[in-house]
Amino acid sequence: MSQARSHWSNRWTFMLATAGSAIGLGNIWKFPYMTGVNGGSAFVLVFLACIAIVGIPLMMCEIMLGRRAQRNPIDGMHALAQEAGSSRHWKWVGVMGLFAGILILAFYSVIAGWILHYVVEAARGSFIGMDGERAASAFQQFLASPVELALWHTMFIGMTLGVVARGVNAGLEQANKILMPSLFAILLVLLGYSMSVGDFHAALHFMFTPDFSKVTPTAVLSALGHAFFSLSLGMGAVMVYGSYLQRHVSIARTSIYIALADTLVGLLVGIAIFALVFANHLEPGAGPGLIFQTLPIAFGRMPMGTIMGVLFFVLVAFAAWTSAISLVEPAVAWITENSRLNRKQSAWLIGIADWLLGIAVLLSFNLWQDIRLLFGLGIFDTLDKLTTTIMLPLGGLCMAVFAGWYMKTSHVAEELDISPLAYRAWRFTIRYISPLAIVAIFLYLTGLL
Ligand code: TRP
Repeated sequence: MSQARSHWSNRWTFMLATAGSAIGLGNIWKFPYMTGVNGGSAFVLVFLACIAIVGIPLMMCEIMLGRRAQRNPIDGMHALAQEAGSSRHWKWVGVMGLFAGILILAFYSVIAGWILHYVVEAARGSFIGMDGERAASAFQQFLASPVELALWHTMFIGMTLGVVARGVNAGLEQANKILMPSLFAILLVLLGYSMSVGDFHAALHFMFTPDFSKVTPTAVLSALGHAFFSLSLGMGAVMVYGSYLQRHVSIARTSIYIALADTLVGLLVGIAIFALVFANHLEPGAGPGLIFQTLPIAFGRMPMGTIMGVLFFVLVAFAAWTSAISLVEPAVAWITENSRLNRKQSAWLIGIADWLLGIAVLLSFNLWQDIRLLFGLGIFDTLDKLTTTIMLPLGGLCMAVFAGWYMKTSHVAEELDISPLAYRAWRFTIRYISPLAIVAIFLYLTGLL
């Protein structure tokens, strides 16, 4: 089952790229505020357990599917189903993932646009002397301006598809090779800074002193859902990255490293943010506005706040960029492999589609504020909910069920190449634990549980 197509230069670039996909707004924007809202340490502990028990086995599963198929997710699922002698309808898993990626990028790009705007604001010194009221009104004013939002959204879509258009080696690999090490370096600088001027002790206490009374079912399920989103699972992004992976690389080991890197970055960013928040007696449970409204106040009051503020938002922008690339790679790969359009033209096509969708998303913060779509939600929330609470868990469920129940065990074992005991544990997880966990998140997130 192979055809001439690009591959990563080595296993490091695969790991960087997949870690790049995993580490994104989910880690830096969502994880800290979810921790803040869900009472801190208890949430962190449950999240770690979810990554280990459900996240890593599923990541192995998705990489395995991609590498075995050596194709984009749609044709890949089709080919694997054929090989397993089961229904060709499994290809719909790929189709759903492809659309999920396009829909996610539409709102991801709008938020990433806010980040780009905040890089500039930080650099202009706008945070200096900022108080709560000014931070909130600056953020609201920005959201009220469709033109400004559109400008930054356009830029981010251009950056993303610009990389994807260049292909696996000259685009994806090259971008990740530059952006990911820069991201780690900036993170270390920020951490050092936050350690010296922030309240490190309070941050550690908040994030790591377990209080089991706070482990509510809600905290468990939202941690599980987030483990999923944070590792980029269920959509085919990891599958398509796996399809560019060479045969000899160990899937188990790389999955563990990627999950560790993803988790570590989430935790370290969380510590850095909360140390600054606590040192300034600000509110850790501020919700989605945490990095846009709370953090600027902290930077504005601290020594070297301007440069550190710029570095922080550049870090988030890099993280978002390398994730966004993986959201559209399945679609671009599929079009390129199935039509007469070349990669550049396919990238343009997806870029235009996502640009248009993103415009609708950003208008939902101002002019189209009152438009209601699914579940009585606005455009932004509809896309977010539809993808992260329905399409991704469903995609992950199908992949686990397919790999666990339909594929030939010998094929799976050959691809994973782990010890018999590890294989048995993995297989048990993927057949029983992951599907059950996913169904639970699904029911919870759609409000049925
Ligand atoms: N994991 C990324 C984040 O944490 C988001 C992301 C990128 C993603 N690609 C994905 C989520 C595919 C689900 C599926 O921000």
